[in-house]
Amino acid sequence: MLQNTAGPQVTDQFEALITGLLEDRFGTTANFLDADLVSGLRQTLLTHHAAGRMHPAGIGQKFDHQHNLSIRGDVIKWLDDHSDNPYEKTFQALVKDFIHYLNRTCYTGINTWEFHYAYYATGSYYQRHLDQFRQDRRRKFSFVVYLNDQWEAADGGQLRLYLPNGETLLTPTGGRAVLFKSDELEHEVLPALLRPRLSIAGWLKV
Ligand code: OGA
Ligand code: MN
Repeated sequence: MLQNTAGPQVTDQFEALITGLLEDRFGTTANFLDADLVSGLRQTLLTHHAAGRMHPAGIGQKFDHQHNLSIRGDVIKWLDDHSDNPYEKTFQALVKDFIHYLNRTCYTGINTWEFHYAYYATGSYYQRHLDQFRQDRRRKFSFVVYLNDQWEAADGGQLRLYLPNGETLLTPTGGRAVLFKSDELEHEVLPALLRPRLSIAGWLKV
């Protein structure tokens, strides 16, 4: 049995993500975050948004940096590693536990990460793309968690994954996590149709 700071239920979630990644090129689990954490992070995101602390995300890095609303329409705010917000602290601790678990079970050598809140207003989307930058290959795994309350298929905003055998759509229900390789799997965020779509998107890096 591997030593792990996380309890057995959390370990099951980690296993589900990793098994999916190895067998299907993506892992997903519906209850990675519990309901209290989802609502605490959602309130934090909405407070940042209401205070004008979220901004259009760039596309690419450095000389490539540009804002192009026809490619992606979300506004983002990077999470602060040293935040004293209790929900962000719990989230960061969970991410750390997951990275240790991934490194021990898959020898992945992840040693850093970055996460941002994302707010897709009604009508906004992110066109088909890969998450690894041409001039910076440090992003190894993409990891997204959703903060939406009672999200239904009719609300839109599905994550479309372009798998070798065809496409699959994931509904961004609160608490769900998705994991895939950043340099391999093209994906797209479909337009949020009826209300804003809330998430934390991040990358595990070497
Ligand atoms: C991204 C992204 C997917 C999602 O931020 O790069 O693809 O479901 N997000 O929010
Ligand atoms: Mn992406």
